[in-house]
Amino acid sequence: MMDYNAILCHITDAEREAAKLMLEAHSVMAEQKSSRRDVVTEYDRRVQEYLMQRLREAVPKARFFCEEQEKKDDIGAEQLFIIDPIDGTMNFVRGFHHSCISIGYAEQGVLKAAAVYNPYVDELFTATLGGGAFLNGKPIHADDAPLSETVVCFGTTPYDISLAPRCFTLAQKVFGASLDVRREGSAALDLCSVAAGRAGLYFELAISLWDYAAGLLIAREAGCVCCTMEGREMKLSAGKSSVAAGGKTAVEEFLRLAQE
Ligand code: IPD
Repeated sequence: MMDYNAILCHITDAEREAAKLMLEAHSVMAEQKSSRRDVVTEYDRRVQEYLMQRLREAVPKARFFCEEQEKKDDIGAEQLFIIDPIDGTMNFVRGFHHSCISIGYAEQGVLKAAAVYNPYVDELFTATLGGGAFLNGKPIHADDAPLSETVVCFGTTPYDISLAPRCFTLAQKVFGASLDVRREGSAALDLCSVAAGRAGLYFELAISLWDYAAGLLIAREAGCVCCTMEGREMKLSAGKSSVAAGGKTAVEEFLRLAQE
């Protein structure tokens, strides 16, 4: 039986160390990937390289599925680290201090451990399967409030502009139904915000596995309902997914609103 707390320690040690690269970053130059909204920096690559090296030393048989990796390993691998070296890259480039390192650990497509670290505010969100979710070592829980009593985070799926009309129609609907909406720029931290009960709901029409893997386990372990926009279970094997996550009441209300 694998000790997932030991794996989690390797992950969090590596994240804290790699985060120094983010904090020391200067003259950050963005390189365009698929569009002007989809960018990468030398820091994404350096953080990823460092994390892969550290985690390979700790778990020699592990495989990797990382945002900036050219040839990604199989999602169903026996032992897999799913890494977003910097989630919230646009925030990082523009100097908004709201980005994180996100690492999920899965075995045969099932998440077992996860950590999301935002070095700017020194917040470390962690979870192991069945072991609960924590922020800096203290248990966190979803807020099961109706939309009218909570704040909603959403993502704009910036790399797929065809989804913008639906995204902003939904954002307007939830703005009307909730206290307010937030577009913070990091899917992993949005999932941690619902896990910590800061927001009652987070939705985005398409995000990649590295954006949501770690946050998904943390949100689930905090008691959030996490599903696709069709109300189906989110499966790692799908790779890209839509997401609606938060307290049960808010997610159910949101899925109803989305059908109207
Ligand atoms: C992006 C962020 C953003 C979300 C996008 C993601 P990246 O990840 O999480 O909030 O709206 O869908 O792709 O590119 O900064 O790692």
